[in-house]
Amino acid sequence: MSNVILSEIHGKVGLIRINRPEAMNALNNDVVDGIAAAIDAFEADENIGCIVLTGSEKAFAAGADIGFMKDFDYMHAYKTDFITRNWERIKTARKPVIAAVAGFALGGGCEMAMMCDMIFAADTARFGQPEIRLGTMPGAGGTQRLPRAVGKAKAMDLCLTARMMDAAEAEKSGLVARVIPAEQLMEETLKAAATIAGYSLPVIMMIKEAVNRSFESSLNEGLLFERRAFHASFGLEDQKEGMAAFVEKRKPAFKNR
Ligand code: CAA
Repeated sequence: MSNVILSEIHGKVGLIRINRPEAMNALNNDVVDGIAAAIDAFEADENIGCIVLTGSEKAFAAGADIGFMKDFDYMHAYKTDFITRNWERIKTARKPVIAAVAGFALGGGCEMAMMCDMIFAADTARFGQPEIRLGTMPGAGGTQRLPRAVGKAKAMDLCLTARMMDAAEAEKSGLVARVIPAEQLMEETLKAAATIAGYSLPVIMMIKEAVNRSFESSLNEGLLFERRAFHASFGLEDQKEGMAAFVEKRKPAFKNR
């Protein structure tokens, strides 16, 4: 793997850092393949309970690499399944992925952040879908995930005018879970990720799966999925341990089974 992706382990948290400072972390194949490989490794590591994806202070990612794709023709984009092959690895991760965003998250960068399970934004974060300026359109989920997160009006505004949204607006409109002073972004994100990773891994995965079902199903189907998963949690040793620990007024020792 080239060094455009740096990956580190912090206790039970896997940290993936996009590291292409000369190009505002623009997403080329090396970057996206690297992210996918790092996710593969963290998913296979039993010790890891949560993954954090971040960029630099200046940019989470300023979009798909424009130089890389500028000469594509339709047949090349279609045959190579541009965007789908490696980008979608984030979507299929079973462990939670938190995007820690400082600076620009534009185009594919905003879309990649939205593929994660939640976004923690530095107060310097700026989100946008400026593809229209390039004579193209969002292609990694912007027209689908953005309206689900912020509603149709704001999604149309961002995708059609190419304006950027700051962290405060992003929080107000539901795109981000928390806004954090830039200098504390990594500390607070890693702390939240460690909290998650300290719980039972099968329960973490079941909750993520159930919340995601709410975007794919009717309310009644979603509720049924949740109820069955909840029933299934009674088959876990960790449920016995968690409830026994509460009754015995002690900390639970989860075994991820
Ligand atoms: N692709 C390739 N290179 C990029 C890039 C991108 N998306 N974004 C920035 N860069 C490069 C610049 O070309 C520049 O390189 P050089 O120093 O070699 O000239 C370097 O990063 C620094 O960028 P700027 O000098 O432009 O820095 P700035 O502070 O003046 O502006 C910015 C920062 C507002 C992010 C600006 O760079 C910008 O507008 N970038 C493009 C954003 C964009 O259009 N993203 C959408 C891409 S299309 C897409 O993502 C499709 C999809 O849906 C998947």
